[in-house]
Amino acid sequence: MRHCIYPGTFDPITYGHLDVLSRAARLFERVTVAVAVSAGKEPLFTAAQRVEMILANVAELGNVTVTTFDGLLVEFCMAQRADAIIRGLRALTDFEFEFNMALMNRHLEPKLETLFVMPNEQFSYTSSTLVKQVAKYGGNVENFVPANVAVALKQAYA
Ligand code: COA
Repeated sequence: MRHCIYPGTFDPITYGHLDVLSRAARLFERVTVAVAVSAGKEPLFTAAQRVEMILANVAELGNVTVTTFDGLLVEFCMAQRADAIIRGLRALTDFEFEFNMALMNRHLEPKLETLFVMPNEQFSYTSSTLVKQVAKYGGNVENFVPANVAVALKQAYA
């Protein structure tokens, strides 16, 4: 059974992430969304909150599970017996970071492949940080995040 890991901080999940996830769910028999507990960022939401927000939006994708991980991504992937890591490339600006990360992960674990998919171009400028900034100053984020995430952002910045 082909199994891929979709890792990220997901602070919070956006429609852009969900677009990548739905493409991964069509390509693989099993997809695990891996929420990084601490990826060198200071998340607004706890790992449990981030998982809960994702879970509420993947119910219709029957082959997707959501969990957290800490430490090296490749070690988590091997423990999960995954075949691949899937990442989204929103624009050319993502490429260098993603290229380096994929090569480092390959160096650490040569058996694991990294695959890239392009989310719909309407999400090319979406990021969790930008969405948080808009929400913080009272802007409307409904085009970028699902309703439960918009509510959580409103509460976080109330
Ligand atoms: N739609 C919307 N936004 C997207 C997106 C998409 N399709 N794809 C990426 N982004 C945004 C994210 O929202 C995030 O925005 P932010 O920086 O404002 O929070 C940004 O792009 C990068 O996010 P993401 O691609 O999810 O990466 P990340 O930095 O959150 O996660 C890890 C990176 C967790 C995968 C990586 O740090 C890791 O593997 N850490 C574990 C430790 C390890 O193994 N390190 C060695 C790696 S070589």
